[in-house]
Amino acid sequence: MSGMKIEPGSVPAEKKFSITVTEEGPYLVYGRPPLAEQFIMPNENDESWYFQEGKHFSTETEPTALCRCGSSRKKPYCDGSHVHAAWDPQLTASTEPLLDRTEIVEGETLAMTDNPAYCVFARFCHPHGDAWSLTERSGDSEARELAIREASMCPSGRLMAWDKLSSTPYEFHFEPSLGLIEDPGIGASGGLWVRGGIPLRRESGETYEIRNRVVVCRCGQSANKPYCDGTHAAIKWRDELEGEPAGETVPEEVY
Ligand code: SF4
Ligand code: FES
Repeated sequence: MSGMKIEPGSVPAEKKFSITVTEEGPYLVYGRPPLAEQFIMPNENDESWYFQEGKHFSTETEPTALCRCGSSRKKPYCDGSHVHAAWDPQLTASTEPLLDRTEIVEGETLAMTDNPAYCVFARFCHPHGDAWSLTERSGDSEARELAIREASMCPSGRLMAWDKLSSTPYEFHFEPSLGLIEDPGIGASGGLWVRGGIPLRRESGETYEIRNRVVVCRCGQSANKPYCDGTHAAIKWRDELEGEPAGETVPEEVY
């Protein structure tokens, strides 16, 4: 693991897990992490509030090749369609740490770091005013709890809540696992949610920062590849995987 950048609050996954982002084709997944749909589920006001697991898919073939161009007819797997698909596979995202280019929101007891380039338009930061105003009001215990929840639910890690006194970030514990994001609220499918410190690397060997929560593009149209930039929402991209939200939730307790 020497030389790899690790975000504060993140723990690298066991060595067997990794993802290679091929230059012009799929994601190659090693280590057989669990892979399942993750549905964005609403609260009573139809705002994004929790994730619920749907259909599971095998990663027993090693490596498992997952579609990155958005055009495979065997999604979530690659079927070679990237060769003729209308997409630009170029990996344009920076490999520098996310926190290097972040804005800081200072609140009463919390700070929140914010790097908008990583937003995937999942909208967990919207309820109860929004994560920014809740952070500012974090002297109030209810606002503080909600701010931590909303920043921690941000699947891409754009937002992170930090305790001001101890300067430590809040993170959910995630086992190494992969989520196929489904967003029925906007009628679209989203990126691949890479959880639990699974490292991403390019074929050249160049590595991206290891983080507890990362979302990479599955629709093929992000301008910040390999990361998702929310374009799937604008183009209403669908993966047609046809699962239902019926499994475990994140967080475990939905209130
Ligand atoms: S990805 Fe994060 S910042 Fe973007 S809308 Fe979702 S919760 Fe908010
Ligand atoms: S999946 Fe989000 S931009 Fe491609």
